[in-house]
Amino acid sequence: MQILNNKVAFITGASRGIGKAIAFTLAKSGADIVGVDVAIDGLKSSMDEVESSTGRKAIGIQGDVGDYASMERSGEEAIRLFGHINILVNNAGITRDNLILRMKDDEWENVLRVNLTGTFNCTKAIIKGMVKNREGRIINIASIVGVMGNIGQANYAASKAGIIGFTKSVAREYANRGITANVIAPGFIETDMTLALSDEVRKTLTSQIPMSRLGKPEDIAHVVKFLASDEASYITGQVIHVNGGMYM
Ligand SMILES: NC(=O)c1ccc[n+]([C@@H]2O[C@H](COP(=O)([O-])OP(=O)(O)OC[C@H]3O[C@@H](n4cnc5c(N)ncnc54)[C@H](O)[C@@H]3O)[C@@H](O)[C@H]2O)c1
Repeated sequence: MQILNNKVAFITGASRGIGKAIAFTLAKSGADIVGVDVAIDGLKSSMDEVESSTGRKAIGIQGDVGDYASMERSGEEAIRLFGHINILVNNAGITRDNLILRMKDDEWENVLRVNLTGTFNCTKAIIKGMVKNREGRIINIASIVGVMGNIGQANYAASKAGIIGFTKSVAREYANRGITANVIAPGFIETDMTLALSDEVRKTLTSQIPMSRLGKPEDIAHVVKFLASDEASYITGQVIHVNGGMYM
């Protein structure tokens, strides 16, 4: 018996990076996976890898978290296939960095739309079934930048800080329905998102991390697994920082 047996996890942004690591880790612990992403090719191959290496079911649904109708359809499809969703991981996210005076309206709006409105859309679409079942785990991926701020990332920081306030509200609104909602705030993690950083920025960043290294996607996935497990049933409305000591 594994700790997530008979659970179904709905994970956004599951085609690569942290989302893909979360899909693997939850499947290895016994959960079936519904991965949602705009990038369908990467998503299909990730889900195939998850199925073949864990033996759990892993299906990919193409969807845009910024579009509520798309998330509602994805949720209905997941319920049709598996009957229920126990775990929602709002992980899809983007960056469009620029200094405030140069930031274009669409850089501001797209980041808010995907990161913050996307988290709201998926939560609204998926929580209905959780309320009915009086059971659910919502785990939202924010960022260290949402608590510390960052030069060139005002849009991203605002979206991630918004996720924290949103999650605490979900936690309060649904605590008596058996649903928990928590945030994981990763520091800097080795994925395509940080691959874009120059060597110099990476060196400066690393010098600010007491553990002197970026994190791995699995460092985040293991915390998701814990928050999704029965052992974490009394934890709600919390922000769990996973950053090698960069923010304390
Ligand atoms: N990598 C880091 O250092 C780091 C640090 C803190 C927080 N995070 C957060 O962790 C999450 C995952 O980051 P990552 O590094 O794996 O990024 P990534 O860019 O490697 O992956 C993001 C995934 O989200 C998908 N996506 C983008 N827009 C979407 C949309 N509208 N609808 C559905 N899917 C969409 C992408 O196709 C991609 O598969 C993000 O929310 C990110 O902000 C990352």
